[in-house]
This record gives sequence, C-alpha cells and structure tokens, in this order.
Amino acid sequence: MTSNKENVGKTNINWYPGHMAKTRREIIQDLRIIDIVIELLDARIPIASQNPDIAKLIKGKKKIVVLNKCDLADEKENQRWVSYFENKNIPAALVDANSGKGIDNCIKKIEKLMEEIQTKQAEKGRVGRKIKAMILGIPNVGKSSFINRIAKRTTAEVGNKPGVTKQKQWIRINEKIELLDTPGVLWPKFESEDVALKLAFTGTIKETVLEKTEVAYELVKFLLNNEREKLCNRYGLSNEYIEEVLNRDNPENFNIYEIMLEIGRKRGCIVSGGNIDDEKTAKIILDDFKNGKIGKITLECPNGDVSHAT
Ligand code: G4P
Repeated sequence: MTSNKENVGKTNINWYPGHMAKTRREIIQDLRIIDIVIELLDARIPIASQNPDIAKLIKGKKKIVVLNKCDLADEKENQRWVSYFENKNIPAALVDANSGKGIDNCIKKIEKLMEEIQTKQAEKGRVGRKIKAMILGIPNVGKSSFINRIAKRTTAEVGNKPGVTKQKQWIRINEKIELLDTPGVLWPKFESEDVALKLAFTGTIKETVLEKTEVAYELVKFLLNNEREKLCNRYGLSNEYIEEVLNRDNPENFNIYEIMLEIGRKRGCIVSGGNIDDEKTAKIILDDFKNGKIGKITLECPNGDVSHAT
C-alpha cells in the first residue's frame, strides 16, 4: 500500500470528536422513546459499514439489521449474511430501498420482534401502545431512501445532517408500528485502511484523504484477486492479457496500474500526447463499481472469512 496510514483516522473530516459527542447525545435522547432500532448496513460491507459503538449506544434495545443495497451484492453472500446475523439472534432483512424490494419482509420481521416487546408490555398491563422504531446508520447506507420507501414517499425529505432534528415526526408503518421520520446518522469506523477502502469503494465515504486514483487502483487490485471475470467482462479484457501484464518484470503495483490504464484506454480517457487520464479512469471504475455495473459484488464474507480489500 502506498497511502499514508496516519491519515486513515481522518477518513471523514466531518466527524471530529465534538461532532460525534453531540450526535451521540442526541441519539441517546431519542432512543429513550424508542422500542426497536433498525440498523441499516450496506449489504456489500456488513461489517465495515457498522458504527463501531452501536452496541454501547443502543444498550440492549431490540434491534433488527437491514442489509440495504442488496441489489448490488452477491446473492449467495446476501443469504449467508442473513444467517450470520440470525445465528447471533439478530433478525436481518435484505432490502433494496431503491426499488422497495424486501421492505414487506422487513416489516414482517419487525412485527415478529415486536411481539416479544408487546408480550412484556402486556405483562405490565400496558396494552395497545404503538411500537416506536428508529433507523440508525452511517452516511449513504440508504437511510433516507429506506424511510421514503417505507413511508411510500417519492421525494427525499430527509437530509444528510448528522444527529436527529428536534421536532419529531412519526411515520405510520401499520396499525402497530411507527417509525421516527428522521434517522440517526452515525459516524463510520476509522479503524484501518482496509475498512476505509471498503467504505470508499462503495461510495459510503466520499471525503476521503485517499486519492481517487489510489482508491481505484486498490479496487482494481481487489477485483483482479477476487472477481477477475467480472472485471474482464466489464472492460473487455482477456485473462491472457491480464496474466501477461501481471507477469511482467516490474513491481506488482506497476503492473496493476498498467491494467487500470488499459481500462482508461478502452474507455477513451486519453489526454494530449496519447497519455491516459488516470483521474478520469479512476472515476469511471469507481462509479461503475458503486452502481453495480461491474457486477453484484460483496466485499466481506461472514464468519471471519473476510476478503481483504488490500
Ligand atoms: P443516507 O440517507 O443513508 O445518507 O442514504 P440515501 O438514502 O441518501 O442513499 C445514498 C445513495 O444510495 C443514493 O444514491 C441512493 O439512491 C442509493 N441507494 C439507497 N438505497 C439503495 C439500494 O437499496 N440500492 C441501490 N442500488 N442504491 C441505493 P445517489 O442519490 O445516487 O447518491 P450517491 O450514490 O451519488 O451518493
């Protein structure tokens, strides 16, 4: 890796400690009136997209995990991730908040989780009270899209402001469940370059200290190692060509960079003198990946069998 590891902690400059503390306070306050937390994760990176402090933050409240953007992730891995969470006794639902696929199943799982809470409430003589749910997740995992889907709204009324606004509005999901209109926006993990790269590959974090070209280089490297066929199909590269370049007598990173430039060449990212514009190339590769054009790709596998981005 060529990037400066000291910079990893600054992956998103918005999340300075004061900001995190304020967000945390606001979310804790909101959680007082919440029965169920819906934790939104990115199905392509269910571990890297977790907030590092969520367990402490929600302190034993009932939780359901939503693996959003499941349309962009590998279908088999999606099922494995659902089993992974459910084996830990955490209900999990696959959702594509863009199309609404999986929302009904998600509501069913919330209702099931709710039954346990309602039984306890009934034991205390509290019957007929609506269950209140709240969404938590790091930026760009699809919280606003999810809320709009579940509320059957078409416009995004929810901003990307960290924390939760003061006036509370509730969305009626059905006769028993209400969802807080504004999600809690949590800070992402800043723990390692591997996590920072996964967040950058998926477009979860945009303000990164890593150069776009470096992120794209690392993505090409990851795809060459793990999803070569999909990379080759997308950009019309043959496996023979890849093998020939990778076996050239250069440092490995030169060869991978050369493959990245070949993608740029094929996509017409050429500047004066016939050179390849590597920034334009990087943008194409990253946009293609983020939008699922290279294929349905999961970057992390469950059960500790984690594929590393680097
Ligand atoms: P947030 O509130 O958690 O910050 O996320 P938001 O709903 O704004 O969604 C972030 C981006 O992810 C949006 O793309 C949205 O369309 C996309 N998205 C959300 N859920 C899904 C999903 O289930 N599948 C897919 N494929 N995409 C989803 P965008 O407006 O193009 O923004 P950006 O990608 O340029 O950041």
